[in-house]
Amino acid sequence: MKLQDYLDVSKLTKKNAQLELDELARQIENANSAYHAGDDPILTDAEFDAKKRRVKAIETKFPDLRGLFSPDFQVGAPAASGFGKIPHAVRMMSLGNAFEDRDVSDFVRSICKYLGLAGADDLSFTAEPKIDGLSLSLRYEHGTLIHAATRGDGSVGENVTANALTISDIPREIENAPEVLEVRGEVYMSHADFAALNIRQEKHGAKLFANPRNAAAGSLRQLDPDITRARPLHFFAYSWGQLSSPIAETQFDAIKRLERFGFATNPLTRQCGTVAELIAHYRSIEGQRASLGYDIDGVVYKVDRLDLQERLGFRSTTPRWAIAHKFPAELAWTRLEGIDIQVGRTGALSPVARLQPVTVGGVVVSNATLHNEDYIRGFDSKGTSIRGGKDIRVGDWVQIYRAGDVIPKVADVDLGRRSQNTVEYDFPTKCPVCGSPALRADGDAVRRCTGGLICDAQAVEKLRHFVSRAAFDIEGMGAKQVEQFHADGWIKEPSDIFTLEDRFGRGMQQLKNREGWGEKSAKALFEAISKKRRVELGKLVFALGIRNVGEVASRDLALHFKVWDRLVEIVDLALLAAIAYRKADDAATRERIAAVQGSRRARISEVRKSALAEADVPKASQAAWDELVELDGLGPVLALSLCDALSNCEERAAIDRLIAHLTILSPEDPVADSRVSGKTVVFTGTLVRLKRAEAKKQAESLGAKVAGTVSKKTDILIAGEDAGSKAAKAAELGVKIMNEDSWLELIERG
Ligand code: IVH
Repeated sequence: MKLQDYLDVSKLTKKNAQLELDELARQIENANSAYHAGDDPILTDAEFDAKKRRVKAIETKFPDLRGLFSPDFQVGAPAASGFGKIPHAVRMMSLGNAFEDRDVSDFVRSICKYLGLAGADDLSFTAEPKIDGLSLSLRYEHGTLIHAATRGDGSVGENVTANALTISDIPREIENAPEVLEVRGEVYMSHADFAALNIRQEKHGAKLFANPRNAAAGSLRQLDPDITRARPLHFFAYSWGQLSSPIAETQFDAIKRLERFGFATNPLTRQCGTVAELIAHYRSIEGQRASLGYDIDGVVYKVDRLDLQERLGFRSTTPRWAIAHKFPAELAWTRLEGIDIQVGRTGALSPVARLQPVTVGGVVVSNATLHNEDYIRGFDSKGTSIRGGKDIRVGDWVQIYRAGDVIPKVADVDLGRRSQNTVEYDFPTKCPVCGSPALRADGDAVRRCTGGLICDAQAVEKLRHFVSRAAFDIEGMGAKQVEQFHADGWIKEPSDIFTLEDRFGRGMQQLKNREGWGEKSAKALFEAISKKRRVELGKLVFALGIRNVGEVASRDLALHFKVWDRLVEIVDLALLAAIAYRKADDAATRERIAAVQGSRRARISEVRKSALAEADVPKASQAAWDELVELDGLGPVLALSLCDALSNCEERAAIDRLIAHLTILSPEDPVADSRVSGKTVVFTGTLVRLKRAEAKKQAESLGAKVAGTVSKKTDILIAGEDAGSKAAKAAELGVKIMNEDSWLELIERG
């Protein structure tokens, strides 16, 4: 065959077409793998596109040769790193959940309380379906779509603009829009399109999608927009991010405005004035759920007035002014084939049910959490029986449920189908990974491996936590990579990450020769690691993965102590007081148990007091302990965890080895020069003009520290109405006391 004939598709024989398609498929697949793994590209974009065009041309002439490698049928979400990153101008938040009607009234009540309203008469809400898809943020400038970004970690998303443009519900241009307009909503796939896609996938031997949400996510996050175009996606707008000017005064009017801009909005959105109306609309939507043609997993309630939304603000990841009322979980029966024990970052032994795979709410489930040993025995953390006291045994028939994204759980056990050969589950008392004793402390529901850093499972979990998004977030070094590096003996603890380059050299031959790694990705990894040598104190504290020390507490510790050395100094000093506290607390627990058993009145506070007096803690240590505990919201449990972690020789040495590679940055003071910055303030009594949480947020944003109890370190006590013992103590200590009005006057003067 002459080259010209070969190039002219119309002259191609079927046999040659088949051969060529196979070869093109191989080349396209290799190019894709290299691209997704971050390797040097083996084809230029133009070459890649030319090959795909050739496949399309051949397949148009021979439609029955359309196969797995037709670009329309490629599956598998590419590595997220294949997309550019887009920081969100306004963070993308998630929603708190309500499961019962009572949770909805609690939600409304807490809003009234926060806003200082006597009742909900003046409040109104919107209620709309919660779409089970993936959220997307669209930025328009001067009415033109500039970019589209996925949620990502809420702060930074992936740039999927080209793909978003293939969705017909998303306008490219908008008339009469504010200069800057960020529209947010949900991308989803209809049931009909999902079924048709899976039929096509099956026909081509490609992977099937578990549910419409996975199909929508997999389709939107394709590096090739042609693939997204071939997958019919839809978009409902329900919210917004940055705006150069307001688009309405209420949530409901904002939705109508988005509609006028050309967006699809959900037709079941309603305004409701009472909890009863919210719940009635929830039931109505629940009744229509099966016939909507797309998946929803609940109803979202939002405070209608936008000025009130602004006053209510946000908790760390969720707004106070909205909540998702979830539909009840879906249930399914299956057999429990085994119980595995996983060892977590803090050594907790977590039992996991291995199940005969079963579909629950459209998703195939093959494992479920069993929480802890009491849960398996049929008790909750307070010793009360659950599931009517039925224990869970390997071989049992168990009922599984899922609620939203939550890990599947075991709801019930069918004793009628229990075989006589089953035995009660014997929870291990040794760590299944390192063999160290696994102990359960008094009052702790969880049994923990005592192996510390010698336990590989704990070490890997600590490393995974260390590189996670909210911690060091090292680009190119996710959970998969740290696991692999740990298994290869390259990193045992966080500090090893920062010596990788020195140990292996810049080229890092070993890394380069590994599957999925090339010169470019190895170099990029070292650069990403290097960038993280400068780290903010709060992130560092969180990254250490100390038990009970979460993201918010870490940030609070950083704001309070400002520098690492000061934090460590106080924690070290507090150790003696911590030991005394634990001893006194144990004595109090023993007293409580003995009193219950002996049916007599517990003398808990007396026992605690005398145990503390006996300990005779040095003043400096007590002061350091008080400083930790009194830091607003921290409390003794967290302070004990901190003291435990830093006084453990091995752990401390590992932390010191890590610190040696880092420059630790102090958190920025929120407002360095306000009248109250650096002052420790305490609120007490009933505030009238602001609610307590609001007042606290405001004080913190002006750089004040808000403490829970009055001590010599308190600068100002703000006493509302009916202030009690705190005001008396403040007066006794000579702390300045102000009423709410004079406090507001002070901060408003700036
Ligand atoms: S409002 C600041 N409304 O649910 C809160 N979210 O579980 C903005 N979602 O991340 C979200 N339908 O992806 C809102 N009608 C709706 C929604 C909705 C689905 C998603 C959204 C959010 C997640 C939280």
